[in-house]
Amino acid sequence: MENLNNPFLLTAYKSPAYFCNRAEESKQLTRLMQSGMNVTLFAIRRLGKTGLIHHVFYPYSNHKKAACIYIDILATKNIADLTNHLATAVYNRFPPQKAIGKKIMELFQRFRPVISFDELSGTPSLSLTIETKAQKENTIGQILSFLDKQNIKIVIAIDEFQQILEYPEKNTEALLRTYMQQLKNTSFIFCGSNQKMMHEIFNSAKRPFFASCTNIKLDYIAEFDYKKFIIQKFKEHKRTMNNECLDFICNWTKLHTFYTQYFCATLFNKTLKTYTVKEAHETALAILKLNEGTFFQYRNLVTAAQWNLLKAIANEEQVFQPQAKTFIHKHQLGTPALVKRGIDALLIKELIFYNAAVETPYYEVYDKFLMRWLQYN
Ligand SMILES: Nc1ncnc2c1ncn2[C@@H]1O[C@H](COP(=O)(O)OP(=O)(O)OP(=O)(O)O)[C@@H](O)[C@H]1O
Ligand SMILES: [Mg+2]
Repeated sequence: MENLNNPFLLTAYKSPAYFCNRAEESKQLTRLMQSGMNVTLFAIRRLGKTGLIHHVFYPYSNHKKAACIYIDILATKNIADLTNHLATAVYNRFPPQKAIGKKIMELFQRFRPVISFDELSGTPSLSLTIETKAQKENTIGQILSFLDKQNIKIVIAIDEFQQILEYPEKNTEALLRTYMQQLKNTSFIFCGSNQKMMHEIFNSAKRPFFASCTNIKLDYIAEFDYKKFIIQKFKEHKRTMNNECLDFICNWTKLHTFYTQYFCATLFNKTLKTYTVKEAHETALAILKLNEGTFFQYRNLVTAAQWNLLKAIANEEQVFQPQAKTFIHKHQLGTPALVKRGIDALLIKELIFYNAAVETPYYEVYDKFLMRWLQYN
């Protein structure tokens, strides 16, 4: 059974104690928030975008002069869903017992709100009756404009923002952009796990959000900081780890946050006083065994040629020029044209990513555990 005191979180943000560094990024984001700038947060998957937002919002949880409101819209299918997600978050930040809460409830009353409670957490959620075209198009605007007039600073983070591209209402981007422009005390943070769609929304000159935000690019946590964090968390539970073990963790997971956290959480679940590379090796194999089902599913997503290419990239770990003769020849991948098509397909399926944020860009397998599994098989 999972150790309930495990300090390596794999899901929701808890508090700064469980969060490794990101001091500079937090400072930068906080400064932009304070100056009322809109921000888009970019990074590869599972690197810590959502975590960072919660981390910078944390000090404002009960702030009198500022309110930070976070919504994850992955589960929304249309504008009405989006409105309800926003209404719920606003309701939870300003419960009716407080002055602002009382006033916003008056606004919500117009939409015959139904309040339900999550069975596990007891958290209330609000469902407004949004039926007509006008209600669909105006309600979010009314909620935002109400908040904007409360004489406090409002920051709204919309996570998994690319989901709006799936809505049947194709004018959602334009609508939201129009609301945004009318607000004085409110700013936004946008982020999403699908980088391609996020770039499409924010960096395409033809679209409403073009040039509307400051882009922040999140990078890997520095090795020194992550190592310090890992050692510290083990130490807090009176456990020690030698350097060889620590090096193995950082190298094996490539410091890709989710995978490093997952590895440490699994290692931590072995309740020991001291950890050496032997336990790290055992943990690595256990993780691969546990996730093997997922790896086989990945295989069904691609053709045999693409799978071979994926294996070749996994074996090289970083591939700078996939169409180069040496790489193709070494791994017997056919022609440069075939490799080019394969790379495109693997990128679209998000099995690999292209790291363009470094001096010499390269391709790498996204899922670090899949990468290791391909290397071992
Ligand atoms: N600085 C950090 N210190 C410790 N754990 C972190 C840190 N940042 C993120 N995490 C953890 O790493 C995992 C991945 O982070 P998160 O979900 O924030 O990534 P993401 O970039 O939002 O991913 P996605 O692209 O899938 O939305 C989570 O389990 C989170 O708790
Ligand atoms: Mg996220």
